[in-house]
Amino acid sequence: MKTALGTVLITEEEIRRRIAEMGRQISKDYAGRTVTLVGILKGSFIFLADLIRAISPEIPVEVDFMSVSSYGDATTTSGTVHIEKDLGISIDGKDVIIVEDIVDTGLTLLHVYNIFAARGARSLRVATLLEKPGNSKYDRPLDYIGFQIPNKFVVGFGLDYAQRLRNLPEIRVLDEI
Ligand code: IMP
Ligand code: MG
Repeated sequence: MKTALGTVLITEEEIRRRIAEMGRQISKDYAGRTVTLVGILKGSFIFLADLIRAISPEIPVEVDFMSVSSYGDATTTSGTVHIEKDLGISIDGKDVIIVEDIVDTGLTLLHVYNIFAARGARSLRVATLLEKPGNSKYDRPLDYIGFQIPNKFVVGFGLDYAQRLRNLPEIRVLDEI
């Protein structure tokens, strides 16, 4: 359906089902361990809220958030990130899953991964709701991917356009930009 708010790319129901599958997979992979989910703000907060409830209650789950701003440009890996809000917990020796809304250039993820590796995480994996294939400078595998999408600007389910539209319950493509 095409409206002033763009075109629906992924429906609420599709997202719900896919996150349930991702939660089941994470529950299998982390059986018997404690997992620490770290959401990268702001875009990941809705995805993380659903993902954490899709993980088996038998698995102890810790959660924290980090906010970073990227000064990288899309064509090099030389950019860096500025930590605007750091974690409140130590991740030393922890099994961490970085939770992202979308991986586009992968620069945010690249830097966050390196920061967390330097802080002594025992294992580091990545869960992202969306991936735009082909752009990423992040060269490790994305362990849990919700959906691969075309190279278009999307909003909703936590993703914004100029800080708006995060509250859309589905993923839409904004045709006008
Ligand atoms: P990166 O380019 O992979 O470093 O992505 C950085 C951040 O840009 C993501 O975490 C999103 O917050 C934002 N971003 C990238 N593509 C989109 C999009 O299509 N819509 C909304 N935000 C986006
Ligand atoms: Mg983000």
